[in-house]
Amino acid sequence: MSHLIPLSRVARLVGQPRHALQEMIRSGSLATFDGMVELDELLRAFPEVKWDDDAEFRRVTEIKEKAFAKRVLERALPDKAVLAARLTELGDDYAAAKALLMHYGNVLAWLDEKIEEIDEDASAETHHALHSVRAFLLRNLAEVPAEAAQAQAVIAKERILKIMSAHVTILPSGHEFFVEGNDTLLEAALRNGVSLNYGCSNGNCGECKARVVSGEVKKVHAHDYVLKDADKEAGVILLCAYAPVNDVVVEANVAGARDIPVQKLAAKVKSVEVFNPHIAALHILAPRSQRLRYLGGQSVELAFDGMRGRYAIASCPCEDRHIEVQIPHRTDDAFASAVFGTLRAGDTVGVEGPFGEFALDEDSPRPVIFLAFGAGFAPIKSLVQHAMSLELAESMDLHWVADEAGHYQDNLCRAWADALDNFSYLPHAPAADLDALLGGIAQDYPDLHRFDVYAAGTGAQLEQARRRFVDAGLHEARWFAGAQDG
Ligand code: FES
Repeated sequence: MSHLIPLSRVARLVGQPRHALQEMIRSGSLATFDGMVELDELLRAFPEVKWDDDAEFRRVTEIKEKAFAKRVLERALPDKAVLAARLTELGDDYAAAKALLMHYGNVLAWLDEKIEEIDEDASAETHHALHSVRAFLLRNLAEVPAEAAQAQAVIAKERILKIMSAHVTILPSGHEFFVEGNDTLLEAALRNGVSLNYGCSNGNCGECKARVVSGEVKKVHAHDYVLKDADKEAGVILLCAYAPVNDVVVEANVAGARDIPVQKLAAKVKSVEVFNPHIAALHILAPRSQRLRYLGGQSVELAFDGMRGRYAIASCPCEDRHIEVQIPHRTDDAFASAVFGTLRAGDTVGVEGPFGEFALDEDSPRPVIFLAFGAGFAPIKSLVQHAMSLELAESMDLHWVADEAGHYQDNLCRAWADALDNFSYLPHAPAADLDALLGGIAQDYPDLHRFDVYAAGTGAQLEQARRRFVDAGLHEARWFAGAQDG
């Protein structure tokens, strides 16, 4: 009987990123069937994995969580109803396997009786053959082969993953993610950077309606919004009120930059992080009842005490209520002066947004070059983290051309490079001859036609870079620019 495991779960079992497995599939060193890997194939392709030791897996996970400043992975158990349903499913699997084993035991006993019966009147030759068959059976039943012990360890590990999390595929976009702990489908999607449609996030507006195509879900929060009977029969649920019991496929719209409406909310200042006299980060917290929907790379308008300004968001949409905005210290910008002077933790700032269409092309599997000029690092940081949470690109190279503020988050970029084998960080000092620097970067990519380039800086820097990269072979349509000077 074959035992198939989804590719995303295989990635977790072997402690490898999904793109590394996709590369193995492309090169023919890992066989899949409809996005699933057969247990024997898994054991064959990863002979070196110690299935009963997850120390390395834990180490990589810890580095990643630290590097991406994500919340510490909640070890919270799933919601009670979901946990009970998952345990019931596991119990059913166990009962079915046990019943099958009993059946095989009965068949063997029957076979043994049959052999004895035939043996009574058998010739010496048949008697000898029957004796060999019986000895073969007894020998093989007594010895448990090493592969069986390995298979048992993999299945045990996979079962624990299945109790703690469920795999979700969104159609038609094809996004995939896991729902962990007691998260709803909506919370898990947002944590993983998947921008599903939603409004209130607490069961009132109905904007998060989606259809379950396969798999089982459970209502984990009561909701005031009333689903029509016809909707219920068609499998429609509210993503903010349901959690998956097992692996599910859900039909839901993923929003692009143009689909997200401009929202207004009041957020609390968590902290002001002054990197140096030229630039600071403002960390704000959206209210629990009104989070800000945005995509990596977009901007917001902030207001405080009559002062306002528009700035790039530097956080990932996957960071729940936390929003980071990076603010260059310009003398003609009163809001920026407040950030460097009077603004304190606990103050309230008005937030309006998101604005702009500088966002990831989530349908593109191409390798990516990120190019940040000075404080253009802010939207690039947001895009990089968003791309990491979506596990989109085959490889990501970050080039950061510094201005007088320097590489003010150098350590963070180095931590990303340490944690991910498909991420490179290439800092560049302020350049007297920017054209020569850009030409040198472009020349390092003889296959530039394969890449997507996301760049953020002033309009003049971006135009200079676009010309250089297109001349070196980049497709015009694969150039994405986020101008930071209005
Ligand atoms: S987001 Fe409003 S009901 Fe789910």
